[in-house]
Amino acid sequence: MPLTVRKAFQSAANHLNRIDSSSATLDAELILRHATQKSSAALWREPQAKLNQASEQEFMQLLQRRIQGEPIAYLTGQKEFYGRMFRVSPSVLIPRPDSEALIELTLKRISRHSPARIADIGTGSGCLIATLLSERPSVRGWAVDLSGDALSVARTNLQRFGLLNRCSLVAGDLLSPLKSEELDLIVANLPYLTPEEIHQEESIHHEPRLALDGGLNGLSLFSRFLRELRQRQDRPAVLLEIDPRRTRQFQELSKTILPDWLVSFSRDLSGRERLAELRYSPSTISDSV
Ligand SMILES: C[S@@+](CC[C@H](N)C(=O)[O-])C[C@H]1O[C@@H](n2cnc3c(N)ncnc32)[C@H](O)[C@@H]1O
Repeated sequence: MPLTVRKAFQSAANHLNRIDSSSATLDAELILRHATQKSSAALWREPQAKLNQASEQEFMQLLQRRIQGEPIAYLTGQKEFYGRMFRVSPSVLIPRPDSEALIELTLKRISRHSPARIADIGTGSGCLIATLLSERPSVRGWAVDLSGDALSVARTNLQRFGLLNRCSLVAGDLLSPLKSEELDLIVANLPYLTPEEIHQEESIHHEPRLALDGGLNGLSLFSRFLRELRQRQDRPAVLLEIDPRRTRQFQELSKTILPDWLVSFSRDLSGRERLAELRYSPSTISDSV
């Protein structure tokens, strides 16, 4: 007997409640909406309507994948970030609300009509650079990632928001593909977890290892990034998302590698020091001598 909207929803919510009660009803509705291609309003206008065969099959498959722990964003192929809907796939990190703090801080640093040249290193879905370019129409962007698959997702998103004419997508390792570019600002949310932390956090196991793994101390990408920054002549300002548990280690690392740069930290919405800001400031050295 074909499932009705109400029955499908109730059955999904019951199953999902056993794996994650905090989002069971929301996930159940998202799966149902995706399988039926209907809005929430359209679904609940006719809760007794029967799902057609294709929708029911799709619904069952999505529910099974969710029960097995796949994040809802990979099932629906999208995730909201800073008020915009981004395409996502299992080749990219799912954009996190925590990273919106990096956007807020960056927007404070660039005035509305600034023609700043901004690079986003480890762009993933492109959520950071696409948001910044959307919010600041005179900015020019570069999006770098080691993963070609991630770059194609970023391309889709930039295209979707009409930003491809202002953003270059570049495959490569950290800052190395941008050696000849003059930049004003670099933003980055580099992988910052240790293998141990990744192992312990089951909810992230479907996300790409390349997007998570920050080496044995979680800071190996940062260490290389800071060394590459030291070689640059353009001295861009740098805004980084970091692991709030490793602020002090990051501070030590940047003092050692970049003694001529000032480092400061800002908090995210939950009050954790998640953002690091670096500015070239050689005078601090001579002042203190
Ligand atoms: C934590 S994710 C951030 C994705 C996106 N910027 C965001 O905030 O949602 C880190 C990204 O860095 C990329 N990445 C990892 N190592 C890299 C490297 N050596 N050079 C460039 N990108 C790298 C990964 O492929 C991944 O897309």
